[in-house]
Amino acid sequence: MNKKALIVYFTRTGNTAVVAETLQQVLGTDRADLLAIRRQPAGPTDYQAEVDQNVQDQTAGHLPGYTLDLTSLADYDDIFLGFPTWNMALPQVLLSFLTDYPLGQRTCHPFNTNGGYGLGRSLEQIRQYCPQANIRACFTRAGGHEKQGQRVGIQPADRPQLAQELADWVASSEQEYRHEH
Ligand SMILES: Cc1cc2nc3c(=O)[nH]c(=O)nc-3n(C[C@H](O)[C@H](O)[C@H](O)COP(=O)(O)O)c2cc1C
Repeated sequence: MNKKALIVYFTRTGNTAVVAETLQQVLGTDRADLLAIRRQPAGPTDYQAEVDQNVQDQTAGHLPGYTLDLTSLADYDDIFLGFPTWNMALPQVLLSFLTDYPLGQRTCHPFNTNGGYGLGRSLEQIRQYCPQANIRACFTRAGGHEKQGQRVGIQPADRPQLAQELADWVASSEQEYRHEH
């Protein structure tokens, strides 16, 4: 990575934020900016209401509003895109972001947390919304189980291991890149 990278993520209960913040430490704050996508207006606080709202948005193809402190992607070639799995897909607000900030031919490094059911069709959606992007292997790990009352699954004690896993992921992507060029 020659230019600074951008880490941009959405989180509801903080798990994806922990991964994003740890990733910034791994990459170095001088090499990566960190920005959160915040829903505007904010989503429901009740879990089931949030699930229902997201299903409605998915069905209607509604793109929720959000705030993000970013004018353009021009300064970045590498975008680390963080999201939780929502209804076995991307949270709809990620589609809002990808619509407003087309990645073009940039390199996209997706990362994810989920409640134990994996990524669903999130990566297919990223490919669909970013047809020209170079999409690297996704980093994914278990986050919270809000449905069962556990909002945050990644504890402070888990951070050193998380940092190691993220460092390995970044290194393997860089190695892959060198093979290709
Ligand atoms: C609206 C909603 C839908 C969810 N759908 C799924 C799902 O389909 N599969 C899954 O494994 N986890 C699902 N989860 C759990 C989240 O992916 C998991 O708790 C994640 O770590 C939350 O990340 P965050 O703390 O960054 O918001 C859902 C959570 C919410 C709020």
